[in-house]
Amino acid sequence: MTVTALLGLQWGDEGKGKMVDILSATTDFVVRCQGGSNAGHTVKVKGQTTVLHLIPSGVLSPQTVCVIGHGVVLDPGQFLDEVATLKEQGINTDGRLFVSDRAHVVFPFHKILDGAQEEAREGAKIGTTKRGIGPCYEEKASRQGLRVLDLLDGNRLRSRLADGAEMKKKRLTSLGADPSELANTLELYLEFGRKLAPYVADTVAMLHDAVSDDKRIFLEGAQGVLLDLDLGTYPYVTSSNTNIGGLLSGSGIPARAIDCTFGVLKAYTTRVGSGPFPTELEDEVGQRLRDRGAEYGATTGRPRRCGWFDAIGARFAVQVNGVDKILLTKSDVLSGCDEIAICTGYRLDEHVTERYPADAVALSQVEPVYETLPGWSEDISGVRAYDELPVNMRGYVDRIEELCGAPVAMVSVGPGREAIIER
Ligand code: GDP
Ligand code: IMO
Ligand code: MG
Repeated sequence: MTVTALLGLQWGDEGKGKMVDILSATTDFVVRCQGGSNAGHTVKVKGQTTVLHLIPSGVLSPQTVCVIGHGVVLDPGQFLDEVATLKEQGINTDGRLFVSDRAHVVFPFHKILDGAQEEAREGAKIGTTKRGIGPCYEEKASRQGLRVLDLLDGNRLRSRLADGAEMKKKRLTSLGADPSELANTLELYLEFGRKLAPYVADTVAMLHDAVSDDKRIFLEGAQGVLLDLDLGTYPYVTSSNTNIGGLLSGSGIPARAIDCTFGVLKAYTTRVGSGPFPTELEDEVGQRLRDRGAEYGATTGRPRRCGWFDAIGARFAVQVNGVDKILLTKSDVLSGCDEIAICTGYRLDEHVTERYPADAVALSQVEPVYETLPGWSEDISGVRAYDELPVNMRGYVDRIEELCGAPVAMVSVGPGREAIIER
């Protein structure tokens, strides 16, 4: 195998970090391709928990080269903090961590604007992570953004920051935000440029060479397909393409190099922030999932909204990405449920559809059509062989496979690296 891709198939937080840590242990490169520090990927090894926002989750394997591709929007302060935290944990990144010279840079302006826009939004807020992701991608798309390579040249950075500075101040002021916080941006980012320099590389050329040399490359998706800018529940989405296309365009890897696309599905559904969620449970069952699954955001600490597995959304995500294999996480959280429901259709105005609607308003109005399966009472967190899982749990996995249209290749039964069952 040369290139393997891994995507979240719901609204993020499916357990991608854990699965990347396991599956990339034998690869040469692990690459983040899109998103930014809105991501929070948790890896748990021997009781030690590490949450990664920008650095690929393969960093815990000492031989793996970690690449932040040009599709990522890079917050340099966050990046340097993460490197320092890893060092404190005894994880050395020297000589094996690279940042694309083409990656766009998140500035304080983007983060302040993100927060101020959310505050100013009348009606439904998106509930962003306030990491400046949307405003940074907005400048990229309007061809005004600054890239990592611009940080390496002090004069260029000075003149580029001066361009449009007044407009930026006015924009913040009009939203009631305080532009004085931008005062030391130049000095701060000149310093970031110096500190970032050893990590900066032409990662397109690096990955091209790696593909040519038959190196094993793992592409780590962030967020989830239902948060995709084009395919997700727009406007309640993130500002990047979280689908397979985003992983290719954000890394520079050619499509034909991909051998296998993994899709990670949580055994139930969660969502952070606003937006339609047909199977949401705002009752004690939902609270039980949140408690047992420790469903609190790895980036913002916000409680995650919880609900039953939605096979309509999951199948849509499998189809639009051509997912080869499903990785099912957090099924241990469902232990003790007498019955487990799966959404197999959406009812709207007496009409039932199995298609994922484009319209977020329609999706917020549908009533889920449920199929109910018997649950299991056993604690499965110590099980390591598929055949030893309770028969009802295996029945649940079979049904997910059938409804989603792809095989379940691995089942995760706990947060730790060891809590994994191959099928
Ligand atoms: P990501 O963004 O997709 O990497 O997921 P997060 O790290 O944001 O959230 C997943 C959470 O579930 C983390 O706290 C993981 O440690 C945890 N986790 C992952 N897989 C499992 C599992 O199979 N069972 C349980 N109980 N927890 C898991
Ligand atoms: P990982 O990689 C879950 C959500 C936010 C918000 C919307 C837009 O850990 O799965 P943004 O800050 O991106 O403009 O916010 O997207 N969101 C995530 N939800 N997991 C994530 O990443 C997310 N990244 C963004 O909560 O609803
Ligand atoms: Mg997460």
